[in-house]
Amino acid sequence: MMVPRVVILLCLIFLRYLPVLISAATITLDSIEIYKTHDWLPSKPAVYFLCKGENKTFLPDVKEKHVLYTFKGEESWQPLTELQDKKCKRCGFYEEDTLKDDVFDEWEFCASDFTKPDGKYIHLKDKELNATFLCPECVPFGNASHHSSTSQNSSGGMHWALIVVISTVVSTVLITGLVTAFKYWQKRKRQQEQARFLKLFEEDDDIEDELGVGPLSGVV
Ligand SMILES: *[C@@H]1O[C@H](CO)[C@@H](O)[C@H](O)[C@H]1NC(C)=O
Ligand SMILES: *[C@@H]1O[C@H](CO)[C@@H](O)[C@H](O)[C@H]1NC(C)=O
Ligand SMILES: *[C@@H]1O[C@H](CO)[C@@H](O)[C@H](O)[C@H]1NC(C)=O
Repeated sequence: MMVPRVVILLCLIFLRYLPVLISAATITLDSIEIYKTHDWLPSKPAVYFLCKGENKTFLPDVKEKHVLYTFKGEESWQPLTELQDKKCKRCGFYEEDTLKDDVFDEWEFCASDFTKPDGKYIHLKDKELNATFLCPECVPFGNASHHSSTSQNSSGGMHWALIVVISTVVSTVLITGLVTAFKYWQKRKRQQEQARFLKLFEEDDDIEDELGVGPLSGVV
């Protein structure tokens, strides 16, 4: 009875992580230009990106305002974060300061923002910054939320895939369970029959002993 329990456990783990595997998409920073710095002193700004509950990502190259910095997406600090279908994150660009960090901009960052076919999303804040993010994997999500007719097809397709996977897993578990239960039942039945068979002999012996007419006593 060990095997089915392990199978069920594996299936539960698989199902728990399946939605994450399907819908998490990595976001990289494609370019950024800052229009101002918040420090009063003429020092170089320490600009970082942060999503609530995650770690700061410093942009070590971004030091000058009105300079467009472009990235390949392979820099040591990339990717910036991950976004899930249907779940936005509160993220922003900040400038580190000794007392309280300054905010370039903070907003709800959603996978559905990536509506353009090239997978780019430009976040622009007047007098603060212009940042371009790249997420080719997000484009189907973006299209889905803006065109309801295509969304039915794509999300419907995903649901069908999920249903097929779940039914496969459930039937596998069910069949394994049934086969094991049947084998167990067969074994029990055989054991019971053997026990009854042996008991029959014992009872015969008992009766013969009591009557004193067993095969041995008869001979003696
Ligand atoms: C944040 O940084 C800490 C320490 O550097 C690390 O242990 C942790 O895994 C990081 N968390 C994320 C979400 O990257
Ligand atoms: C998303 O929509 C745009 C325009 O509506 C279209 O050009 C593009 O091919 C679509 N992308 C996907 C992945 O469906
Ligand atoms: C913001 O940056 C993008 C990418 O460099 C550029 O195409 C766009 O024109 C910029 N927007 C403004 C308002 O400067």
